[in-house]
Amino acid sequence: MKLPSRVQLIDVGPRDGLQNEKQPVPAAIKVELVHRLQAAGLKEIEVTSYVSPKWVPQMADNREVMSAIRRQAGVRYSVLTPNLKGFDAAVADRPDEIVVFGAASEAFSQKNINCSIAESIERFAPVVEAARAAGIAVRGAMSCTVGCPYEGEVAPERVGYLAGLMKGIGVQRVDVADTIGVGTPRKVQAAMEATLKHFGIDQVSGHFHDTYGQALSNTLAALEMGVWNFQSSVSGLGGCPYAKGATGNVATEDVVYLLHGMGIATGIDLDALVDAGVYISEQLGRPTGSRVARALLAKRAG
Ligand code: HMG
Ligand code: MG
Repeated sequence: MKLPSRVQLIDVGPRDGLQNEKQPVPAAIKVELVHRLQAAGLKEIEVTSYVSPKWVPQMADNREVMSAIRRQAGVRYSVLTPNLKGFDAAVADRPDEIVVFGAASEAFSQKNINCSIAESIERFAPVVEAARAAGIAVRGAMSCTVGCPYEGEVAPERVGYLAGLMKGIGVQRVDVADTIGVGTPRKVQAAMEATLKHFGIDQVSGHFHDTYGQALSNTLAALEMGVWNFQSSVSGLGGCPYAKGATGNVATEDVVYLLHGMGIATGIDLDALVDAGVYISEQLGRPTGSRVARALLAKRAG
């Protein structure tokens, strides 16, 4: 056990969380959510994506959102760019980091980005090169690292293969994503181990959806390996349009409660974070998906 003393959280709520909403969410609400997240102490926020508006209509307001954010010093704003067209659009909006996103399963790669794993790497390579030349950091998201909605279980070797390809084109750090939340601790550790053959411990993060209620256990399993970067979504928002039935990311509030309870620093003010979650839940007209927020709100009301 080599638990980290500090954890960096990327809140992906504005992007992963909202991309799947059926009703359009006005840009002003997304911007306000980003403001509340940074006020709560989040130092990394995944704001939006530059993908086809026909595929993901909810992210069509990327420019509007990015240009309306009041940037706070020390906060890193990241955006998804699947190809050069997306990168060229994004670069005008000055993201601190761009994210290329691939999959460890062929079927998911086809459904999500309409190309094979090998083709995706060919598309990402010039994006990574352009980003690094422009001084923009590059992250690689790796979907379906334990299970795929179309192929079932995914072997760690597939994850290692993708991680190696990402490393080969100059991706600086990667997310080990359990897109459909089917993972359990040992499987997540195996996916992490396969990734750690290509990236250092400081360059990997856990991105766990909570469909089967395993995301906190999986977070702990990764923490025990020394992983100290994680992605989560305020209020547990979200899901991927190409992973039917998959629920949102683990709620940021729940991860923060876990970490603080273990004496691990995050720099996040849990009360302010709960308020940010209340804000977005009210805007979406449904209760928060965070168990910790529900408990703290009940305590406040009492
Ligand atoms: P394609 O159809 O193969 O691309 O889509 P294409 O190059 O043949 O272009 C077709 C049309 O899309 C053209 O427009 C292009 O201009 C347009 P048309 O002539 O038909 O009007 N186009 C674009 N428009 C805006 N921005 C762009 C762009 N590229 C092409 N960047 C593409 C390929 C990747 C674009 C498409 O498949 C797509 O947009 N997919 C959406 C993928 C997505 O956003 N998925 C959700 C995010 S990933 C995720 O949630 C997982 C993650 O959280 C980790 C995890 O949990 O696993 C990250
Ligand atoms: Mg995701």
